[in-house]
Amino acid sequence: MSTPLSPVALNLTRPGPSRRFCVAPMMDWSDRHYRFFARLISRHALLYTEMVTTGAVLHGDRERFLGYSPEEQPLALQLGGSNAGELAQCARLAEQAGYAEVNLNVGCPSDRVQNNLIGACLMGHPGLVVDGVKAMLDACTIPVTVKHRIGINGRDSYEQLLDFVGQVHDAGCQTFIVHARIAILEGLSPKENREIPPLRYEVVHQLKKDFPQLEIILNGGLTDLDQMQQHMQTLDGVMVGREAYHNPYLLAGVDQAFYGDDAPVRSRIEVLQALRPYIAAHTDQGGSMHHVTRHILGLFQGLPGARHFRRRLSTEIHRTEQPLALYDEVVEDMVGRVRG
Ligand SMILES: Cc1cc2nc3c(=O)[nH]c(=O)nc-3n(C[C@H](O)[C@H](O)[C@H](O)COP(=O)(O)O)c2cc1C
Repeated sequence: MSTPLSPVALNLTRPGPSRRFCVAPMMDWSDRHYRFFARLISRHALLYTEMVTTGAVLHGDRERFLGYSPEEQPLALQLGGSNAGELAQCARLAEQAGYAEVNLNVGCPSDRVQNNLIGACLMGHPGLVVDGVKAMLDACTIPVTVKHRIGINGRDSYEQLLDFVGQVHDAGCQTFIVHARIAILEGLSPKENREIPPLRYEVVHQLKKDFPQLEIILNGGLTDLDQMQQHMQTLDGVMVGREAYHNPYLLAGVDQAFYGDDAPVRSRIEVLQALRPYIAAHTDQGGSMHHVTRHILGLFQGLPGARHFRRRLSTEIHRTEQPLALYDEVVEDMVGRVRG
């Protein structure tokens, strides 16, 4: 007899997107152009925006901070902030803008955001996260999720993690995306904070054992789909950041492996061809081709011609008056190399 599915697995609480495979929020990387490109490779992966602060959403250029192409869906908005009223307003705007989920960032260790009580430092202020999550849940009907670390320096015991997740769960949050390392809030750069504190996947697995009713998504250092499938035997999903950016064709295996979708996947060349009209529309509106193509440089990673592709698109692009002609030439060139 199979085990009955929990309300989380059935998504009875707040219908939302499947989070079996998520592409992480990454400042300056997971912008709308990257997401459009990623969507050409996987139809099902849940994509996250870069973190947008509540201040930027409420007082900045709305189109810049909330705008996206409908093709990017399913798409989650990540917010940075800790003022419950502002988070609520932003959650409402996220729903109105059509986002499938709104996520609160409790994992970013940057000094700049700590000063504003944004990101990982909030793990030391669970009460603020509780108030923020409650306010967001009251303000919208889309799922509200939290992305956090397994701890921060000075608050890194498992009991403290249990207390944090327990309190935020009591506030109504069902989904926790857990970056499986602590953040060290003083003395390490954000980049070092993604590399130096050791990964502790076992802590996330234990969390799922202690909170089987919650949806627990594992993040941090995942690079290989088989390895991710192993984690899926216990956990509800995975979130991948750097590997999905540097080696985007990893996403080609996702629909089949995580969603059982056997529909044909675009080849790398087909991805480039499908991206062309998007680039043309962007340049027609006065945008630079580089805004888009800077995200695709890793498409051929591991294949012959990968360096050539990367070099032409990253250096020649700045010298040409005819970027689309260069794009066509590079695609043609890669057609020859892939065949050859
Ligand atoms: C360039 C860059 C920017 C990032 N920006 C954010 C962000 O805006 N919000 C966030 O929650 N995490 C951010 N992260 C962290 C990632 O979401 C993820 O937690 C981390 O990279 C670990 O996953 P990975 O090993 O699969 O890359 C960023 C990571 C990178 C590399």
